[in-house]
Amino acid sequence: MVPAVQVSELTKVIREKILVDRVSFQVGEGEVFGLLGGNGSGKTTVFNMLSGLLEPSSGSIVILGKNIKEIKKGNPEIGMVPQQDSIYETLTVKENLEFFGSQFRIPKKELNARVHSLLEEVKLSKKMDALAASLSGGMKKRLNIACSLIHDPKVVFFDEPTVGLDPVVRKEIWDLVNKLHAEKKTVIITSHYMDEIEELCERVGIMFEGRMVAAGTPSEIKAKYKLKQMEDVFAHLIKEGG
Ligand SMILES: Nc1ncnc2c1ncn2[C@@H]1O[C@H](COP(=O)(O)OP(=O)(O)OP(=O)(O)O)[C@@H](O)[C@H]1O
Ligand SMILES: [Mg+2]
Repeated sequence: MVPAVQVSELTKVIREKILVDRVSFQVGEGEVFGLLGGNGSGKTTVFNMLSGLLEPSSGSIVILGKNIKEIKKGNPEIGMVPQQDSIYETLTVKENLEFFGSQFRIPKKELNARVHSLLEEVKLSKKMDALAASLSGGMKKRLNIACSLIHDPKVVFFDEPTVGLDPVVRKEIWDLVNKLHAEKKTVIITSHYMDEIEELCERVGIMFEGRMVAAGTPSEIKAKYKLKQMEDVFAHLIKEGG
């Protein structure tokens, strides 16, 4: 496996509270990896460090061979779909995409082409001139995803991209993740839906109270705990304290 993301002993301490505790994992180039864990287990904190929003207290992150410390914010190799929508409500759909695109050095013609192809992909072409504020929750999430992909990143982080979405939109987001996989992008995704994780991810890591307590393919993990469903493994790990 050629690692696209290498995380070693990653730790975050805020006001003496250990939010992430010596987490290590690797994700291969072109792999879809699931980061699982209960509410408050530290997944978003890991994502914030992976995307450069939060500085680790200790440990290291290497993405596509570069240490995160050497990369400034706005790393063109990374796309981050945050847990909370981060689009601008007072801009239109198209303006949002153009704004996110303007953060990167993309030639105007190319940016324009990407805006239109992404609008098609997330099924928002007809809403191009609508204010983001006027969109439904599912449309906002799709716009957020498109904004995170505007610079065609090689590594994409999805933090709970399907929460609160209807089954059709959820499936559309799965299709998008599968398309990125087919394009050999590296994806890390968090979700509380085990069906989703088993459908999309080749390997998973499970977090509990800031620690990575299990990692492997869903089948390996289920076999290890002699359980048939990932839900049962999840419940077991949380009950037993990892
Ligand atoms: N800036 C902060 N200051 C102090 N504590 C924080 C901060 N950010 C997060 N936390 C705490 O860190 C822990 C991990 O939070 P985090 O958001 O990473 O969890 P999560 O696994 O993403 O949870 P969820 O599934 O609910 O999204 C929680 O106990 C949270 O309250
Ligand atoms: Mg979270």
